[in-house]
Amino acid sequence: MGLITIDEGRCRKDGFCARECPAAIIELPGDGFPRIKPGREEGCTECGHCVAVCPHDALRHERIPAAGSPALRDDLRLSEAQAAQFLRSRRSIRHFADKPVERETIRKLIETARYAPSGGNRQGVEWLVIGDRGRLRKIGALTVDWIRKLAKDPRAVAAAPYLLPTIAAWDAGQDTVLRGAPVLVVAMAPAEVATGSADVVIAQAHLDLYAPVLGLGTCWAGLLQGAMANSPETRAAVGVPDGYPHHYALMLGYPDVRFFRAPERKAPKITFT
Ligand SMILES: Cc1cc2nc3c(=O)[nH]c(=O)nc-3n(C[C@H](O)[C@H](O)[C@H](O)COP(=O)(O)O)c2cc1C
Repeated sequence: MGLITIDEGRCRKDGFCARECPAAIIELPGDGFPRIKPGREEGCTECGHCVAVCPHDALRHERIPAAGSPALRDDLRLSEAQAAQFLRSRRSIRHFADKPVERETIRKLIETARYAPSGGNRQGVEWLVIGDRGRLRKIGALTVDWIRKLAKDPRAVAAAPYLLPTIAAWDAGQDTVLRGAPVLVVAMAPAEVATGSADVVIAQAHLDLYAPVLGLGTCWAGLLQGAMANSPETRAAVGVPDGYPHHYALMLGYPDVRFFRAPERKAPKITFT
């Protein structure tokens, strides 16, 4: 059996699948029923567009199981107002409830984030989930150690005025690095994933947007990222393996804060050419 199977009773020979295939490996031969061009199966990126675009559910792909490819429901489409509020109401959470996040819930988040786009549909993003309080504290402390070194350079302080307050508040007992989050989620990809730096951020952006739907909150861990890039001890404490240059970390937990407005942002600078 080939990579794709056509239900000839359903297929209308409209050619949508061939037109849609980004690898251009589907053709409509003499009988009009689509097939993979001979010898071109290896070119398939398993993106599933051929399955998704068929209006008649006539095409099956060996590696895109129908059971895992649900039909899109019109009744679940967001209106423009719903989508705008959904996107604008996403907030960075810096106060977390003292409540653990169940592994099942984290799994559910990642299960949705894995549908994020990836270069060449490579799907090379892997996940590291840290929920041990002692380890999170150590990661925070190592990050502050790095910030202390950085803050010795007046140019660094001028460029990032939040560095000194971050150290002062840490010394006063506040977790200014991981904000007391009970979980740190790291998306990472090995060096051979050429688009890994974009893939991990896009995957985290999906997780970030889906988290509030499950009652969770997130905050991008930029200070930690800086420390990981410059301090091997911090990187080792997080546990990103060697050979994984692409990574981004998000704090995760149940929010102990609620927002009532979507704050204004700068007008976009747009250049149409
Ligand atoms: C790449 C990136 C890194 C960030 N790093 C941190 C961080 O280390 N600590 C923190 O408290 N917030 C961090 N933030 C959150 C930003 O400060 C926040 O997104 C911004 O102030 C806008 O607020 P909002 O996310 O609620 O819209 C980061 C955000 C991004 C996108």
